[in-house]
Amino acid sequence: MPLPFQQIWNPEGAVTIVTGASSGIGFELTRLLVDAGAHVIAVARREERLAELAAATSDPMRVHSIVGDVTDASTREKAMAAADSLRDGGLDLLVNNAGVGAIGPFADASPDRMRRVMEVNFFAPVDWTRDALPRLRQVAQSGERSVICNIGSVLGHRAVPDKSEYCASKFALHGWNDSLRAELVSDGIGVTLVSPSTTRSEFFDSLVETDPDQKSKSIGSWPPRRVAQATLMAIKRGRSEVILSLGGKALVYADRVAPPVMNGLLAKRGR
Ligand SMILES: NC(=O)c1ccc[n+]([C@@H]2O[C@H](COP(=O)([O-])OP(=O)(O)OC[C@H]3O[C@@H](n4cnc5c(N)ncnc54)[C@H](OP(=O)(O)O)[C@@H]3O)[C@@H](O)[C@H]2O)c1
Repeated sequence: MPLPFQQIWNPEGAVTIVTGASSGIGFELTRLLVDAGAHVIAVARREERLAELAAATSDPMRVHSIVGDVTDASTREKAMAAADSLRDGGLDLLVNNAGVGAIGPFADASPDRMRRVMEVNFFAPVDWTRDALPRLRQVAQSGERSVICNIGSVLGHRAVPDKSEYCASKFALHGWNDSLRAELVSDGIGVTLVSPSTTRSEFFDSLVETDPDQKSKSIGSWPPRRVAQATLMAIKRGRSEVILSLGGKALVYADRVAPPVMNGLLAKRGR
C-alpha cells in the first residue's frame, strides 16, 4: 500500500495559500495553480499587484487576494478565514514563499536587519504553518494528501559571506522544515523544501537595509516561471527536497563533499 505522502497531489479543486504572490516565484506559482484548477489565497502587501495577478490568471475568480504583511497575525487570520469559507475548515496546500534578502557584512548592519529578515523568512512560515496545521490535517484525515511547501534557498544549505542574515534565515527554515517533515509523515501531510538558486525576480530590488552598490554574485539564473514549474512538480510528486539549477547543485554538493575547500574558496580576502 502506498504511503500517504507518495500519492500524487492533485491541484484540481484544491484550496491553497501562497504567500508572496505579488511578484516572482509566488506570482508564477499562483498562475500555474489556477491553470490547474486550484483556488489560491494569494497573500502580499501590494494590493495593485495582486489585482494584476488575478487578471493574469486563466480564472480570476479562483484568486482570493489577502493584502497584508505576512508577519502580522491579522493577515494570517484573514487568509485562514478565506480558506475556511472555501473548504469548510480544510486546506490542501500552504506555500511559504514570501521572503526578503539583505547584502553586506554582518558587522556593518544594525540588529534590526537580522530581526527583519528572520521575521519574514523564518518566523512567518512557522506561524503560518502552526495555524494551517489543523486545516491540513483535516484534509489528510479524509484520505487526501495535504502539503506544506517551504521556499528555501541553496543558501540554506551552504552559507556565503555578506548574506549572514539571509543564510541564517534559510538554514533555520531548512532545519525546521526537516523536523516538521519527520513529525508529519504519519499524519499524511507532506513537507517539501524547494531551494532555488538565483532567480530573475524583483528580489534584489527590495533588499533590507542594503547599500544600492552591493551586488549579488551568482553563476547563472532561472526565470521565476521555471522555478514555479519545478516547485509545482515537487509538490505533486511529494518530493521531500529539490535543489534547483546546475550552479545551485554544484554549490550544495561541492560543500557536502569538501566543506574545507568551499570554506577556502568562499572566504573574503584583501579587505
Ligand atoms: N530571487 C532569488 O534569487 C531567490 C533565490 C533563492 C530563493 N529565493 C526565495 O524565493 C522566495 C520568493 O522570492 P522571489 O525571488 O520571487 O522574490 P520577489 O519577486 O521579491 O517576491 C517576494 C514576494 O514576497 C512578498 N513579501 C516580501 N515581504 C513580505 C511581507 N513582509 N509580507 C508579505 N509579503 C511579503 C512580496 O510581496 P509584497 O512586496 O507585495 O509584499 C513578493 O510577492 C523568497 O522566499 C526568496 O527568499 C529567491
